[in-house]
Amino acid sequence: MGKFDLSHRVVMAPLTRCRSYGSVPQPHAAVYYSQRATDGGLLIAEATGVSDTAQGYPDTPGVWTREQVEAWKPIVDAVHAKGGVFFCQLWHVGRVSDTSQPNGQHPISSTDKQVLSQMPDDASVEEHSRPRRLLTEEIPRIVEDFRLAARNAIEAGFDGVEIHGANGYLIDQFMKDSVNDRTDEYGGSLENRCRFALEVVEAVADEIGADRVGMRLSPFMDCLDCWDSDPEALALYMVRELNKHGILYCHMIEPRMAMVSGRYHIPHRLLPMRKAFKGTFIAAGGYDRDEGNEVVDEGYTDLVAFGRLFLANPDLPKRFELNAALNEYDRNTFYTSDPVVGYTDYPFLENSA
Ligand SMILES: Cc1cc2nc3c(=O)[nH]c(=O)nc-3n(C[C@H](O)[C@H](O)[C@H](O)COP(=O)(O)O)c2cc1C
Repeated sequence: MGKFDLSHRVVMAPLTRCRSYGSVPQPHAAVYYSQRATDGGLLIAEATGVSDTAQGYPDTPGVWTREQVEAWKPIVDAVHAKGGVFFCQLWHVGRVSDTSQPNGQHPISSTDKQVLSQMPDDASVEEHSRPRRLLTEEIPRIVEDFRLAARNAIEAGFDGVEIHGANGYLIDQFMKDSVNDRTDEYGGSLENRCRFALEVVEAVADEIGADRVGMRLSPFMDCLDCWDSDPEALALYMVRELNKHGILYCHMIEPRMAMVSGRYHIPHRLLPMRKAFKGTFIAAGGYDRDEGNEVVDEGYTDLVAFGRLFLANPDLPKRFELNAALNEYDRNTFYTSDPVVGYTDYPFLENSA
């Protein structure tokens, strides 16, 4: 992957775990991530706020203050000590928040339409406030927040950053036409709706180098009332624009799995984007060992990211190598705050039954 020498294709997907008390990463995160690190394995850290207006869930980390940067350092060091490659996912939730914002302000978005639905397995957010539509002249400030956060992430020791353009958060709220109802140069045409995303990419790539920048996109997902009427056109446009910036990787989420003859099937709709993208391609969403091997063999993707399986199996690459049994994940502890339970206490192969 660019200048990074990966030894295998099993990527840890970004996973919000709500254990960064007061938005500050904690020492237990060093244990958690180093458990999952392998020599030459890529880990993508949980979504990390770029500013004090970017947060929407309890105890999710940030990377905009000195204290946060210092707190990340030993966590990144612990991953590097095991030879892991570690990227920080840069996040702004936009309207997926409430009025516990600085000065009690409303969350910001591309729109003033409120989110009405929730993430399917998300028990952690009760209600989203009505957002405030960003003024055109306020947008450069948000782009700047991403730039500074990227610089901070590099200062904390991360090898690079992944811009979170997926799952219904701020960047997705600009890109997708179910949400973006703007009439300025950030709304309307595909080009206009993608403008904010690409300004963020440009700023971040300028700041830390395109060879350390990835982007995550979920064109086909309808998360938090955020969907597009022509997802493939959106995704292809983005991928071609990302090529112009020469970024390192594109990390794309499959459409939701569909039930076919009593079994869940991954739709495998990313091929046109994989073909169009010039950097490293990462596919995610519902993969297991067999299906991961299959898509790599077919050249459908370079790398495969695993979310829930990696959460529950700290030694996932080793289990895949041996074709060993997997621990099952416990949904009830995905977003709880305990520093151990459901976090660092999933057994390793030699300790499991
Ligand atoms: C507990 C949990 C937290 C997640 N947090 C994030 C996140 O911070 N950023 C992100 O882009 N996706 C997040 N996701 C989505 C995952 O990265 C992944 O795309 C999703 O789980 C589907 O992959 P899987 O079938 O391998 O689990 C999260 C998913 C789960 C289950």
